[in-house]
Amino acid sequence: MFGAQALEGAGRNAMCRHEVRLPIRFVPATHTPCVRSLNEVNSVASRTPRSGAHRIAVIGGDGIGPEVIAEALKVVRAAGVELDTTFFDLGGARYLRDGEVLSDETLETLRGFDAILLGAVGTPGVPPGVIERGLLLKLRFSLDLYINQRPFAGTAPGHSKPHDFIVIRENTEGPYVGEGGVLRKGTAHEVATQGSVNSRHGVERCIRYAFELASKRERKHVTLVHKTNVLTFAGDLWQRTFDAVAAEYPKIATAYNHVDAACIYFVQDPHRYDVVVTDNLFGDILTDLGGAVSGGIGLASSANLNPARTGPSLFEPVHGSAPDIAGKGVANPVAAILSAALMLDHLGESKAADAIRAACAKPTSGSTIAVGDEICRRLHG
Ligand code: IPM
Ligand code: MN
Repeated sequence: MFGAQALEGAGRNAMCRHEVRLPIRFVPATHTPCVRSLNEVNSVASRTPRSGAHRIAVIGGDGIGPEVIAEALKVVRAAGVELDTTFFDLGGARYLRDGEVLSDETLETLRGFDAILLGAVGTPGVPPGVIERGLLLKLRFSLDLYINQRPFAGTAPGHSKPHDFIVIRENTEGPYVGEGGVLRKGTAHEVATQGSVNSRHGVERCIRYAFELASKRERKHVTLVHKTNVLTFAGDLWQRTFDAVAAEYPKIATAYNHVDAACIYFVQDPHRYDVVVTDNLFGDILTDLGGAVSGGIGLASSANLNPARTGPSLFEPVHGSAPDIAGKGVANPVAAILSAALMLDHLGESKAADAIRAACAKPTSGSTIAVGDEICRRLHG
């Protein structure tokens, strides 16, 4: 989640490299979180709740996370949407400082917000899994963010026509649950198992969401991606559930691809896709590829949704914390800005969300802040 997801693949959004200040100062979110007004970046202000403002928990996180989130917030404000923000200092850096990953108390506080906007988490020096499982996956699982929605629009390398599809990734099950264990660790006879959990309930609600989404789109097409020829237990559950839900949507056309074949099609024929539905791990891998063929991972946005709205949903760019370019002012903020647009859709601010997407449609270049400024200008122009 570090270098591999650095933003050098940002494609058409070339970045110049020069030093910039970190736009927002973060302080530890103890169990009583610190509160910031967004009226001025770098200013510490008392809480200024505004009537009608959406209450947003902001986790800038590590590396480039705070930098890109600052631009996302700036753009949302420029689009005329009022936010009442509370900043939570969480992530690898916080963990290294005082050991907090995500306490149950902080989690309970987060439940009270309308939405959560997250930059990226992960810091070199923290063992793999501590922050990923303890913070990001804890949020996804505890808040029942069972849909990870990742839209991809762009023109793939070697193509002349743009594609436009959405991956719906199951977000609370699969190998991410952490089923398994290790025996005889460190010996020649070590055994490690890592299961994949697939419940009928979990699979069905995900597939149903994909069909509902497709029914509102022009092409009305859903592709199931799995590996049913090898993962015969989980694959069979996914396929039978997919077929049962599909029978309820006679106007929606369907297809099935094995995940390895889908990797070829994402590159060679992305136009075949409208809505893709898949499990947690396949969805993780496939959406990095989706970003790579859609202008670069620096443009890839995501929504971790609790469609039942029993708590806040979480919005974050697909990319990681990219510590190699952190603090240099060269990270592409567009993925974070487009993630904030997805947040606005969820909050009923679709007009502002559409305006932001339109402003991001043309290529941008320059520093992180310059790109944010340019998108704000386009919103006003
Ligand atoms: C993503 C990330 C996460 C995932 C990591 C950081 C746990 O890669 O959101 O795609 O695997 O889901
Ligand atoms: Mn990923």
